[in-house]
Amino acid sequence: MIIAIDGPAGAGKSTVAKILAKKLGFLYIDTGAMYRALTLKALDNHVPVNDEAAVIRLAQGVKIDLINNPDGPLTVMLDGKDVSLAIRQPRITQFVSDVAKIKEVRQVLVQMQREMGRRGDCILDGRDIGTVVFPGAQRKFFIDASPGERVNRRYKELNGLGQKVEEQDVAADLANRDKIDSTRQTSPLRQAADAIYIDTTALSIEQVVEKMYNSCKQNG
Ligand code: DC
Repeated sequence: MIIAIDGPAGAGKSTVAKILAKKLGFLYIDTGAMYRALTLKALDNHVPVNDEAAVIRLAQGVKIDLINNPDGPLTVMLDGKDVSLAIRQPRITQFVSDVAKIKEVRQVLVQMQREMGRRGDCILDGRDIGTVVFPGAQRKFFIDASPGERVNRRYKELNGLGQKVEEQDVAADLANRDKIDSTRQTSPLRQAADAIYIDTTALSIEQVVEKMYNSCKQNG
């Protein structure tokens, strides 16, 4: 079974996806982490993200692995190196949408995501899972929250990671990424017609997970 979770940045997709995956015993595939890993590779190799041909070449040779740990966060491996923390740096967040809007980059990473999805039951979260990566997914969710609440959640998350950030910078980053992610030509952020929409603004993590869990347990 494939469960697709899409939605804008800061809506809490990865938080609920991880918990739901554990509850169901499914593999969790964080596709945003893959775009982040490629962005890290570009920056570390001094490849400007607007040099599309060079970024595409990097994408074609990249090796990204996601390792599910039973009782801890996901491990993200880039060319054999653990980059789980490095991909959360502000410099990556700043440029990742520019990398993710390149059509050929998406083709390479979507291909990898489909291969990962064939390993068994899994939950994938991202922006185009229900529309492009797995349009035939058995369950699709679109997780949303008000812009103010998304800023609030992302601010707390970054603080939790020990990053000193200003709330206004988090707000500017989310607005900028929302704009690029939803207006790009190739697979922009869209709710699939058959996705279940959940506005999580006034819901706790547990309430969101319960709604999703109950839906997954229903037949059909
Ligand atoms: O979910 P995230 O914030 O880690 O994602 C980082 C960026 O990657 C996000 O700004 C848009 C892009 N992305 C995408 O275009 N398609 C996906 N399936 C997942 C993420």
